[in-house]
Amino acid sequence: MPPRPAKRLSTLALLRTVATNSLAVCDEELFDKLFVARRYVAHPVFFVSDPAAIKEVLIDRFDNYPRVTSIRRLFETDLRTGTLASEGETWRRHRRVATPTIDPRAIRPDVPALIALAEQTADQIAAADPSVPIDIERWVGGLSTLLWNQVVTGGDPAGIPILRWLSKVPHKPRSIDLIPKPAWLAERLVHHRRDPALPLLDAQLHAMIEARQAEGYAGSQDLLWRLAHARDRQTGDLLPRDEVRDEAASLIAGGAASVRALTWIWYLLALHPEVEARFHAELDAAMPGRAPEPDDLTRLPYTRRVLDEVMRLYPPIPAILRQAAAKDELCGHRVPRGAFVAVMPWIVHRHRKLWTDPDRFDPERFTEANSAGRPRFSYIPFAVGPRVCIGASFAMTQMLSVIAVLGRRFRFRLASDGPVVPFGGISLQPKGGLPVRVERR
Ligand code: HEM
Repeated sequence: MPPRPAKRLSTLALLRTVATNSLAVCDEELFDKLFVARRYVAHPVFFVSDPAAIKEVLIDRFDNYPRVTSIRRLFETDLRTGTLASEGETWRRHRRVATPTIDPRAIRPDVPALIALAEQTADQIAAADPSVPIDIERWVGGLSTLLWNQVVTGGDPAGIPILRWLSKVPHKPRSIDLIPKPAWLAERLVHHRRDPALPLLDAQLHAMIEARQAEGYAGSQDLLWRLAHARDRQTGDLLPRDEVRDEAASLIAGGAASVRALTWIWYLLALHPEVEARFHAELDAAMPGRAPEPDDLTRLPYTRRVLDEVMRLYPPIPAILRQAAAKDELCGHRVPRGAFVAVMPWIVHRHRKLWTDPDRFDPERFTEANSAGRPRFSYIPFAVGPRVCIGASFAMTQMLSVIAVLGRRFRFRLASDGPVVPFGGISLQPKGGLPVRVERR
């Protein structure tokens, strides 16, 4: 666990801490109260963990709670009109066009290739010297990029550097990025940090899309192809050429989140051998002595519960931040126009009023019987409402493919007794990676 201050930090301490580890600013009060009103740099900030109020912010009045402008700008430089960076009518249009390109039906034909790629990585892990620890975060990171590249470009190696660039968007926010400021200054600060190699990668992304738009294109009907040919179901229009690029960049950037859960699962299994044994038993029963097949992934209820519990304790996106467009009322409190509203899966998922023994790892929380009666919006790893993660279904397929393949073949043991500290920028990751020893099963 990152350090959890007993009391709220001063504004200065908060600004200093948030740039290195956004989770280390979350103090005990936030895990005890369902609604906490604060002020930082004279700016009102509301921490909303009450499930009914979460619904009001993310669903009922979602138009009144767009993304925080200063954070959205961090995405906008690279993603422009893409769903991750846009608001209003542009966002609606992109969302309508993009959703079917990444839904379960669109992804299904890729699943055998995803499993095959995971098996290839498992072969490489199996061939490595077992006495030397590996950083499992680096391995699952590399594998996730391969799988994502399969979906985005049909496995074209030229896609890999593009995916790597976009997986780093937005660059790690600094305190100054979070402070409200005029647009011209924000632009300057972001441009100042841009990598000079980017125009080349951007040109390559454009070229890949143009190839798919060209008459006579005979390559794979991958995500880039689908985006280039997808029509808005309301208007029948294609996205303009530049906007296809923006949406592709946005989806690619969003796709980087799954790797986080894929790291934490091995950490938690190593610490809980009884859960690990049951997980292995389920895999062995479902796939006796053979690699997984696509249909197997839908028949692993215990594995699914383990993954749900991993994302409860270590939500890959730990914070969902919004800014009130007009004044409102939440939980009986006045929310002024411009106030920040923080719905934080990191806090909601470990809240003492919503979960029993919240810091304990227990996949049984997610059985049907134990889930009955739990407020629906107390578990929100993919957010909820109109801006729910567009890639949630693909992310689950991707994660289950990797977990089924690696879990069937290996047991991972932590290589160090030292604490593993999660730290959060935009996504939640173990500080310094996760070194493990590999045991073949
Ligand atoms: C375990 C994996 C993932 C988790 C936990 C996750 C979580 C989230 C969350 C919480 C949001 C809402 C953020 C906000 O509104 O502030 C979001 C949005 C988004 N995600 Fe994911 N995500 C994951 C994987 C993916 C994948 C694989 C893709 C690629 C298709 C993706 C693409 C996006 C996009 C484009 C948005 C913006 C949607 C919009 O604003 O309409 N995500 N995700």
